[in-house]
Amino acid sequence: MKQVTVVDHPLVQHKLTQMRKRETSTAGFRRLLGEVSHLLCYEATRELPMTKETIETPLTDMEAPILAGKKLVFASVLRAGNGLLEGMLDLVPSARVAHIGLYRDPETLQPVEYYFKSPDDLSNRLTIVVDPMLATANSAIAAVDKLKERGAANLRFVCLLAAPEGIEKFSSAHPDVPIITASIDSHLNDHGYIVPGLGDAGDRMYGTK
Ligand code: URA
Repeated sequence: MKQVTVVDHPLVQHKLTQMRKRETSTAGFRRLLGEVSHLLCYEATRELPMTKETIETPLTDMEAPILAGKKLVFASVLRAGNGLLEGMLDLVPSARVAHIGLYRDPETLQPVEYYFKSPDDLSNRLTIVVDPMLATANSAIAAVDKLKERGAANLRFVCLLAAPEGIEKFSSAHPDVPIITASIDSHLNDHGYIVPGLGDAGDRMYGTK
């Protein structure tokens, strides 16, 4: 898989534009995030290993394709990651889930961990980290560090928006982890927000602030 994949499908781009708009309601934002997460999940799982099983259709037997290997893991970076997680679980309901609680110290912009719960051994599982905004990349890097400590060796990072600065930093720290995003925006502002962006993804999803 490429280091960075931009999912430039018309439906993704149209929905992303609705999400960016200041006037989009909390309910609308959440619904759109769920819809976009389905399309991003489709892209992130494109290379899942397959096997065959013999099934009977009403007409005949056939060798039919099914997913192979151990259940994959979605790792949600709290709290905004949960908006992507829910949609991903719609498509892969049997996936295991890790939650990583990190908040950004507003002064230093460095991630501070307050929660980590994950399946014990992540080796031999595709682990898809979800966080809507790849901004400074500090949280994303810390999340992947933690997951690698648990044995994760086959990872993807899925976000809605990425800043060029975040992509560069993340890819230097974790060159083995492909990024799947709906857009690469212009830059980060002095507060670590993505410009033009969509504001604070967590606040927009949950109607806080
Ligand atoms: N986190 C957000 O929610 N928005 C940004 O623009 C950057 C980080």
